[in-house]
Amino acid sequence: MIIDQLRVVGSAQTNKVMIAELIRVSVRALGRRPPEPTKEGTGQLIYPFDPELAATAVTYLRTPTRVVWDLYRVRATRLEALYELLLADVIADTRAWSGSVAGISVEARRVDEFPAGERQVVGTVKNALVEGAQRHGRRLHVEPDRPDLLLVVRMDDAGDIVVSLDLGGGSLSQRGWRTESVEAPMREHLAAVLLMLARFDPRHDILVDPMCGSGTIPIEAALAARGAGRPLTLRCPALASVWPTQPPAPLFADAAPVVIGNDIDLGAVVAAKQNGKSAGMDGAITWRRGDLRGLTPGEITAIAAERGRTVERGLVLCNPPYGERLDVVDLRLLYGDIGDWLCTLGPGWRAGFIVDNPEFEPAMGRVLRADPRIKKPLANGNLRSYFYLYEP
Ligand SMILES: C[S@@+](CC[C@H](N)C(=O)[O-])C[C@H]1O[C@@H](n2cnc3c(N)ncnc32)[C@H](O)[C@@H]1O
Repeated sequence: MIIDQLRVVGSAQTNKVMIAELIRVSVRALGRRPPEPTKEGTGQLIYPFDPELAATAVTYLRTPTRVVWDLYRVRATRLEALYELLLADVIADTRAWSGSVAGISVEARRVDEFPAGERQVVGTVKNALVEGAQRHGRRLHVEPDRPDLLLVVRMDDAGDIVVSLDLGGGSLSQRGWRTESVEAPMREHLAAVLLMLARFDPRHDILVDPMCGSGTIPIEAALAARGAGRPLTLRCPALASVWPTQPPAPLFADAAPVVIGNDIDLGAVVAAKQNGKSAGMDGAITWRRGDLRGLTPGEITAIAAERGRTVERGLVLCNPPYGERLDVVDLRLLYGDIGDWLCTLGPGWRAGFIVDNPEFEPAMGRVLRADPRIKKPLANGNLRSYFYLYEP
């Protein structure tokens, strides 16, 4: 069956933030709200395909990991049927999703329940796409390393095989600015999810990551405040009329966020600074090296004043160490110290943390004498972490 869906894919439990972010960027870039999506699981949204919305989503969304165009759905339990049904769809399809000559690569996801191996599924899909395109006079060849078009084949919850065109050409989480790393860096899209969950508003909030490691949260905060876009590399005739060929203009070019990244480790601050530079955000972020307990409200006020702002509201956002290198006593002390330090900031501050350690919540509760307003399971790579938001 030929289908026409825009699929926005993110981490589990992030549907709400992806919906909210797409509304925000679509209203700003297109002057209209997207329709209500259908949800598939807790980390996938499906919209009717709309080329303008698709271009906006790939350019500006920061919380998803992929944005794809679902092209074909096939119900088949054997490779022969998969080939024949898909070929018939590609031949009947009038959408020119490829150019007259293009290198393609096909990736498989979650096809382990198909009664054939992953490589056979990929090979069959590839053959049907190449053969079908040929009937339209288009020549597709296999180009695994630097394809012009990346196609994704996966089995959906109903057991159907869905073939999609990856509009971002791969993971959107890798923004390209991370040239330096530290131990346990956060994936970039997760930082964007945390900013949305904590409702970061750069017009009013001063953002502080007191344990910033390689700088993921401060850099994403500065980029999100500006509504920075990514250049689109995909060339697809069916989308040519709406697909920007120039580097995209930021959605909020005049944003002047106040963002502070601090870490106790010199190597981490050096890496964060370098990453900020690669992201073009170095001037927008104040980097500091030191123990978080030394970052005083006075210093934050001075940094904000340098940028012409006063501190009425603030957001602390970070992922503290979770115990790989610290024993439980040290961790309790550290978590308690983070709580004590938060208390020094005074009213108007809220604090969000992503942590994978059961000691965190009781330690914070002892100091703040409050439960988190939000406690939400959220994966951080392979870690089954929680996001906590504390508000005064
Ligand atoms: C899990 S890492 C943060 C990773 C970071 N979000 C990233 O994406 O790279 C925790 C960081 O906390 C820092 N840290 C530990 N104790 C600290 C303290 N007392 N003050 C400031 N930073 C501290 C560590 O140096 C480490 O970089």
